This record gives sequence, C-alpha cells and structure tokens, in this order.
Amino acid sequence: MPSSPLTIAIDGPSGSGKSSVSKAVARELGLGYLDTGAMYRAVAWHCLDQEVDLTDQEAVAQAARDLPLEISTDPDDQTLRVGGTDITSAIRETRVTSQVSTVATNLDVRAELRRRQREIISEARDERGGIVAEGRDITTVVAPDAEHRILVTASEEARLARRSTELHGGADADQVEATRDQIVRRDRQDSTVSAFMEAADGVVTLDTSELDFDQVVAAVLALVRGEVEPA
Ligand code: DC
Repeated sequence: MPSSPLTIAIDGPSGSGKSSVSKAVARELGLGYLDTGAMYRAVAWHCLDQEVDLTDQEAVAQAARDLPLEISTDPDDQTLRVGGTDITSAIRETRVTSQVSTVATNLDVRAELRRRQREIISEARDERGGIVAEGRDITTVVAPDAEHRILVTASEEARLARRSTELHGGADADQVEATRDQIVRRDRQDSTVSAFMEAADGVVTLDTSELDFDQVVAAVLALVRGEVEPA
C-alpha cells in the first residue's frame, strides 16, 4: 500500500486501451480499480431490462438513483451486480453498447453516478490506499484533485484496429469498417457532455498509437513513480 492515499485518474476515448492498462497499473501498485463506464452500462442494462424508455430523461434518471448497484474495485474481480443479479457479461452485449450513450448523455444520470464514483474513490483511499479510476470525465469532473491525471489517447486508426480485433477477432478492411460506426459515432455523442479527446490543464497526455500494451503500462507507472517528467 502506498504511504499516502493515491488516486490515479485516467480518461480516454474508446479503443485507447485505458481499461486494460488501468487494471494492470492497479494490480502492479496494489490499488483498487474502478471502471466507471461499467456503471453507465449497468444503468443502460437495467433500463432495457425493465423496459424504461431511454428517451424519457426523468424516468432514466430516477432508475439510476434507485439502482441497487454493487461494483467490485478488485482489479482481479470485476463482478457487477444489480439487486443480486450478476450482470458482468450482460453489460458488454451489443444492445447495451449501442444504446449506452443515450444514458451517458443524460445529465441527471451523470450527477448520480458522479456522486457514487466519488464515494467509491474515497472509500478505496481509506481502505486500500487508493484507486485507479478510469472513464471519460475522471480527470476533469469526478476526481480533478487526483494525485495523477492522465489522458490516454491513440490515433483513430490505432483505436479502430484495437477495437476491431477485440470485437471481430481481426483488423482487415471489412472488420475495421464494421467497427468504425460504433466507435466514432459513440465517441462523438459522448464528447457532447465530457471533453475526453483533449487533455484539460494539468492533465498529462499519453499517446499510445505506437506503443504496445506493456509499454503503455510502463509509461503510466513511470509517471506515477516520478521517474519521468510529464511531457
Ligand atoms: O468505456 P465504456 O465503453 O465502457 O463506456 C460506456 C459508456 O459510458 C460510453 O458511452 C462512455 C460513457 N462514459 C462516460 O460518459 N463517462 C465515464 N466516466 C465513463 C463512461
């Protein structure tokens, strides 16, 4: 456990690799890990499950406030439960992925999840020495006072290739095209409510276009350990 509590805030667009990198950094430093995107996905899953009309902003916001969500901050156990039901895999289904932006651009949902995220971060600081929290607005809104704030970016080409490999098992021209609409459209919609394509003041940008996974993890660890000066 670090000697004083540590929050590492990591933001970035889809396919930047921030989730797997954040998890690896948390493991390496013995910290908690919070995937805030999973919380937006849980609200979307629940609304679809309960047939709440996603365009009814107040109904969706109320569903978010009432949601009995349990999220693990153990980097080795990313179980997510709603009222005891394990929805860890269900939140990755296409129907959730394709509609989650509608939930994530609801400002009342954001206010509720921001409140919960701050609570989780604060608990992790008290109980396990800190946390790596990742999403789209962690460096700017959820934890602007974090000890380390990093924006993980990559060229559109690199992000598409990574997501395509994840979703379709490869990155040939057809597979990349099938991914493009999902990634580009979703990031465009999401960036109407939080600015995660460019770093805010004081946030370090890490461009991972030319780096492999191990190199990105090493770069984040070097920044956190003060071994390199932020560029
Ligand atoms: O990273 P992801 O694909 O699991 O994110 C799911 C959705 O939630 C996506 O539309 C972006 C949004 N999101 C957000 O608006 N703010 C966050 N802090 C995290 C995710």
